[in-house]
Amino acid sequence: MRWFSVGIKVVCLVSMMCTVSGIGANWGTQASHPLPPDTVVRLLRENGIRKVKLFDADYDTLRTLGKSGVEVMVGIPNDMLASLATSVKAAEKWVSKNVSAHSSSNVKIRYVAVGNEPFLETYNGSFLRTTFPALQNVQSALIKAGLSNQVKVTVPLNADVYASSNGLPSGGDFRTDIHGLMLQIVKFLSDNGAPFTVNIYPFISLYIDSNFPVDYAFFDGNASPITDGSLTYYNMFDANYDTLVWALQKNGFGNLPIIVGEIGWPTDGDQNANIVYAQRFNQGFMSHTLGGRGTPMRPGPIDAYLFSLIDEDAKSIDPGNFERHWGIFTFDGIAKYQLNLGSTNSGSLVPAKGVHYLERKWCVMKPSANLDDPQVALSVSYACGLADCTSLGYGTSCGSLDARGNISYAVNSYYQRNNQLDVACKFPNLSMITKTNPSVGSCRFEIMIEPYYGGAERRFGCLQKPLSLVALIIFFSLTVV
Ligand SMILES: *[C@@H]1O[C@H](CO)[C@@H](O)[C@H](O)[C@H]1NC(C)=O
Ligand SMILES: *[C@@H]1O[C@H](CO)[C@@H](O)[C@H](O)[C@H]1NC(C)=O
Ligand SMILES: *[C@@H]1O[C@H](CO)[C@@H](O)[C@H](O)[C@H]1NC(C)=O
Ligand SMILES: *[C@@H]1O[C@H](CO)[C@@H](O)[C@H](O)[C@H]1NC(C)=O
Repeated sequence: MRWFSVGIKVVCLVSMMCTVSGIGANWGTQASHPLPPDTVVRLLRENGIRKVKLFDADYDTLRTLGKSGVEVMVGIPNDMLASLATSVKAAEKWVSKNVSAHSSSNVKIRYVAVGNEPFLETYNGSFLRTTFPALQNVQSALIKAGLSNQVKVTVPLNADVYASSNGLPSGGDFRTDIHGLMLQIVKFLSDNGAPFTVNIYPFISLYIDSNFPVDYAFFDGNASPITDGSLTYYNMFDANYDTLVWALQKNGFGNLPIIVGEIGWPTDGDQNANIVYAQRFNQGFMSHTLGGRGTPMRPGPIDAYLFSLIDEDAKSIDPGNFERHWGIFTFDGIAKYQLNLGSTNSGSLVPAKGVHYLERKWCVMKPSANLDDPQVALSVSYACGLADCTSLGYGTSCGSLDARGNISYAVNSYYQRNNQLDVACKFPNLSMITKTNPSVGSCRFEIMIEPYYGGAERRFGCLQKPLSLVALIIFFSLTVV
């Protein structure tokens, strides 16, 4: 009961804004088979998640959130920044269509996220010139629409926009190449009573640096502490967050509110991405923040959004195979592990209700198929290229499959992604359909859920659609020759 009362507490921050406390969640939709919005909204509510962060402003999603009381951060994708930066009119249209229209029908939009990690070094500076003007134009449009008291702008940034000169939080300052720009943005946020949003990922630190002390990524206090003046750090999150606090303070904005836009741990696709670590991290983070202790530099509640609610099987795997496995729920809304979000009594996650699956059948490698057939490698790379094989490989959930198991996994993923079309299990001399579940141990051979088409066109264009038969027929006629 105690947790429940924490979950619905309302906190009034700076200015006139009141926001719901408790953990939020990121709801991304880069999935081949996203759950319908009403299923997801019910999932949020039943798990006591009262704040959601979106990466766009999909109409159906927002309309569904309107009946929910859930507080919303809508997003502007990076590819829209240029047009919003150059045209106040475009910003006004965006706000009118994607904020005003929904606010007037009871969607609790509280933030507009302008861009998503636009200053990541991998973008080569593509958004350096457009982000700040877009932020200004969206803010002007919100003022013009009379919404600027209830809706605040922000820019979700990667934690690499700041760094420490001495390896300690107290050495924190903004990255030298964007220092001036960051100050302009921070001043603008401060002037408008808006928060700084940062994404913090101890998992990535571990992924890119095998010497990173594993225990320091978690919250159990098992790592050797780091001393910074009179303060002591037992985990990377606190140290990273406080590096930002120092950077803000050093530049005269020590009181700027901070939102942790993304925090989480993936469960597959890498040797450090697994259920045990993900639960340890997310539960550790929840206990850490529910205590209301804050960090050494900023005692008090931490406003944060878990990354992520549901797995997204169509995300780019450029950053790594783990990208498709950040969810606390699988693609079909099943809880991956026990997690007490502090908002329900039971302490365990409630799965999605009313999920419609396709038939119980799978595509697998024929027992008679020959592993040495040169066609096999071709078929597997074709299937994996168009479906999802990120659960195969060293240290993953299906990492202990043998070569035949690997091939079955690949062809099944392709078959399911194509909604179990017969033609999608016709790899020459290789595949067959079975009603026997090939899943073993931690390795789950998925059955896909029924496709949801409402709003899919707008969200994703043709990417979202199952592969066309034409492509399949071309592929098979080529390989049969
Ligand atoms: C509203 O948001 C959607 C989804 O992000 C976008 O496709 C659309 O262009 C936006 N509308 C306007 C008028 O900018
Ligand atoms: C950034 O630059 C690198 C090297 O010049 C290039 O390979 C990459 O495609 C560029 N990325 C983007 C997003 O422009
Ligand atoms: C299965 O596939 C993965 C990923 O492609 C590969 O790393 C592994 O070596 C394969 N295992 C076998 C036994 O072929
Ligand atoms: C399939 O197997 C048969 C018999 O082993 C063989 O004659 C045929 O060429 C194979 N077809 C392909 C496309 O590999």
